[in-house]
Amino acid sequence: MVQERISPHGGILVNQVVDGRLRAQWLKQAPSMKRLIIGEESLSDLECIATGIFSPLQGFLGEEDYRRVCREMRLADGTVWSIPITLPVPEREGEKMQTGEWLALTSPSGTIYAVMAITSLFRRSLQAEAKAIYQTEDAKHPGVAKLYSSSPVCVGGPIQLLQRPPQGFPQHHLTPLQTRRLFAERGWKRIVGFQTRNPVHRAHEYIQKAALETVDGLFLNPLVGSTKAGDISAEVRMRSYEKILSLYYPHHRVCLGIYPAAMRYAGPREAILHALARKNYGCTHFIVGRDHAGVGDYYGTYDAQTIFSQFSADEIGITPLCFEHSFYCKRCEGMASYKTCPHSAQHHVLLSGTKVREMLAEGKAPPSQFSRPEVVQILMEGMKESKDQT
Ligand code: ADX
Repeated sequence: MVQERISPHGGILVNQVVDGRLRAQWLKQAPSMKRLIIGEESLSDLECIATGIFSPLQGFLGEEDYRRVCREMRLADGTVWSIPITLPVPEREGEKMQTGEWLALTSPSGTIYAVMAITSLFRRSLQAEAKAIYQTEDAKHPGVAKLYSSSPVCVGGPIQLLQRPPQGFPQHHLTPLQTRRLFAERGWKRIVGFQTRNPVHRAHEYIQKAALETVDGLFLNPLVGSTKAGDISAEVRMRSYEKILSLYYPHHRVCLGIYPAAMRYAGPREAILHALARKNYGCTHFIVGRDHAGVGDYYGTYDAQTIFSQFSADEIGITPLCFEHSFYCKRCEGMASYKTCPHSAQHHVLLSGTKVREMLAEGKAPPSQFSRPEVVQILMEGMKESKDQT
């Protein structure tokens, strides 16, 4: 019996993965249902819902939940939820759908991933959603651009997952049920979750290890769903995580598992989603650093930290561990942050993501104070592989 140490969000760990006889029955019925081909992001959402990463969601949001999430960061029943998890349908197809019907959610080639009962069919304003969720209507924001390219018509309702979406990194594919069991087996009571869409650089390592000093285990949970053009691919990043963990982390204190969700770049609101998802995996703490889930200059450096104060600790459940902007300081001769370092900027090794990518593209290695050389080597190999492929 697994001892539950932190309750899933909303109290129950959702499991909408169907197998055995029930699955066979659904697969028999699905061909007679209306078919909806779902895109990459919806497929990621589908997996997150079905395996409980997005507990308490049991399906895509209906209109009542959607409106309250956009307006107040809460589901219709008051539970905190910050990002609308919607299933857009092409307008023409939406016109033919009705509540009460069943939908088969499929790949373009016809693989049936899931079935869904339509309980809500609604139209949204893409601009209003952009403003509420991303705080901007600017189509240059990658999350907003993706939103604008989707349909304003959405269907909501509970899903049953019949087929797991194709997924790389099987050895690091852990559901919340599995991580909760694993943490318990290891005797970890206090676990800190770490979200990232980047390779682990020295500042990440610094804040992870600072957190690890006060908890039992670190759950490195890199996002591997879709990211914006220019971000380093999940394949290359996974190689770099395995490397850095093997060389610089105590293996009995760290667990590496993928987070299959897509990146939204919604800054503060996405930080809340990221924290709730990690609570569902069984983490008690969650790291929120500088400009978490941000992009460009759309959000203030610490907006993703201050947003947590809009809710009570009980409502969120997981404890955010907030870190200031960290860097290597040549005068301190070590990692530090604006909170702990008295020296001026000229002593700090600070590189933007864009600068790092430019250096890698030119075959130049970023300094070892910024990134471990073993990680840099993997990134440079990855850069070369992607160039060779084009
Ligand atoms: S994110 O989009 O997934 O947030 P990234 O992978 O860069 O981007 O960041 C992972 C986590 O590390 C986030 O919590 C972010 O705020 C934090 N972080 C990244 N760089 C720094 C830094 N230099 N100092 C402090 N925190 C940082």
